[in-house]
Amino acid sequence: MNGYVRVVEVSPRDGLQNEKAIVPTAVKIELIRRLADCGCSTVEATSFVSPQWVPQLADAEAVMAGLVRKPGVRYPVLVPNLHGYRRARTAGVGEVAVFTAASEAFNRKNVNASIDASIARFEPVLAQARADGVTVRGYVSTVLGCPYQGEVPVADVVRVAARLFELGCAEISLGDTIGVGTPGRARAMLRAVAAAVPMPALAVHFHDTYGQALANILACLEEGVRVVDAAVAGTGGCPYARGASGNVASEDVVYMLHGLGFETGIDLDALVATGHWLAAQLGRTTGSRVGRARTPETA
Ligand code: HMG
Ligand code: MG
Repeated sequence: MNGYVRVVEVSPRDGLQNEKAIVPTAVKIELIRRLADCGCSTVEATSFVSPQWVPQLADAEAVMAGLVRKPGVRYPVLVPNLHGYRRARTAGVGEVAVFTAASEAFNRKNVNASIDASIARFEPVLAQARADGVTVRGYVSTVLGCPYQGEVPVADVVRVAARLFELGCAEISLGDTIGVGTPGRARAMLRAVAAAVPMPALAVHFHDTYGQALANILACLEEGVRVVDAAVAGTGGCPYARGASGNVASEDVVYMLHGLGFETGIDLDALVATGHWLAAQLGRTTGSRVGRARTPETA
């Protein structure tokens, strides 16, 4: 396997949205700057969701205002509705992501709406984004299991992913929100979705709860996906997904990708150092295996 894999760095958003303590705005801005300096081409910067629902990211405007944009780097943000989209645009955002799920039970917990109602909520976002020339990514959560309903039929994942693509999402990220998937199921799910949405428009988003994330990513790379979400230091989780733990660590993903012969444009040593720096800010050790193998001194 060779070629380029785009790693979408989600730590400033997914990584910090589930932290118990509120991370200072200055630390968030510094994290984004460091990630861009590591060579990350896409850094998901924050969320313009309800601050009552996710107080951890209530400073979204301040984060965007303080960010020094590096040329060539994309800084998308999450928006749940037109209100969030307008806030994001006022803050100077040029790329957004909308989100729903393949499981009804999870979606109600996460956004207080059915899948179809949540899609109806962001249809005006897609229409406005098209008019504004803003690129939209669509997330489908709970693609390999739901903390509330258990099994999630692949047909439901395909239906939701196809709908988001049809509505104009340029990229669909398939999220194993609670990290329960295994490689065979991940591969089968991706294959089924790729029959409805072209593979170049698909991304995978694994949480590492059961330690399966790298294996799942490898299975999906073999299937042809070339966009992989990850969070430095293995931070993250969705506050409304019971049992969700960290995202797969970017350091581990980049180490594997480079070992496989892929290019990412990311400096692994700098990424490892950033992971240690972030873990220190959060007052714990890094969740990255590569980070643990390489101390900041050896990185
Ligand atoms: P609701 O309470 O049902 O909505 O929340 P509402 O429309 O009735 O609004 C209630 C209040 O929120 C109103 O204010 C609105 O103005 C305000 P009030 O009149 O009471 O003063 N409001 C907002 N304020 C700021 N920004 C906004 C906004 N929208 C409404 N955009 C809502 C519905 C969707 C807003 C809420 O449920 C919400 O924000 N949920 C976000 C949950 C979330 O962020 N979850 C984590 C991200 S998803 C994830 O992590 C999974 C992913 O990583 C992939 C994977 O792992 O699978 C992407
Ligand atoms: Mg996630």
